Amino acid sequence: MSDRPLFLAPSVLSADFTRLGEQVGEAIGGGADFIHVDVMDGQFVPNISIGFPILEAIRSVSTVPIDVHLMIVEPDRYIERFVAAGADIVTVHVEACVHLHRTIQSIAALGATPGVTLNPGTALGAIEEIVPDVGQILIMSVNPGFGGQAFIPSALDRIRRVRSWIDERNPTCRLEVDGGITTANIADVVDAGADMIVAGSAVFSVEPDVATALADLRSSADRSGERG
Ligand code: DX5
Ligand code: ZN
Repeated sequence: MSDRPLFLAPSVLSADFTRLGEQVGEAIGGGADFIHVDVMDGQFVPNISIGFPILEAIRSVSTVPIDVHLMIVEPDRYIERFVAAGADIVTVHVEACVHLHRTIQSIAALGATPGVTLNPGTALGAIEEIVPDVGQILIMSVNPGFGGQAFIPSALDRIRRVRSWIDERNPTCRLEVDGGITTANIADVVDAGADMIVAGSAVFSVEPDVATALADLRSSADRSGERG
């Protein structure tokens, strides 16, 4: 079992939107540490999801920080509005940022925690220089755009490499992983060095309920390091 605290960040992308407030409450009641909100623009990714009014609604019912994952082109145009709508953490894709350092600085200047992420096919070197300047690094373990996809195994090695950069250069930075995480692979992800787990379908699309799903994920993660 890892010594680091483990944060769970359910992604509401897989929630029942006809009762979103209730589902956020169930997640928080079940031990969610953050609520993960996936913003997709139909350009950076081939899907359109959540915008400002939904984020404001989530903010109004959430008692935990809101972790906003921007899968949009030109994120600089919208960062201020996402922070105003309730984002506590704003994560941008390196592929969408021409001036990544400037974008990270502007998120911090607005009082939010800056995060950076990259697609599974993007070389990790693209984020190496920004490690000291972010509060969170997100390793995508699926190609962004949809919930319910299968975990890409090469993410594990990427998590290990980023964990060593974080330990050396920014030990308080969280290492988040997003995509295809289930009770079957969460321990491997935590073993590799992640301390913040995003899960959508494994939280909102399983029986019997959200709280049980979160408890199952946490107990599966706790088995990390106990295996030979
Ligand atoms: C994918 C999103 C994820 C997604 C995860 O583009 O960034 O946050 O909701 O969903 P699951 O856990 O179902 O893979
Ligand atoms: Zn996400």
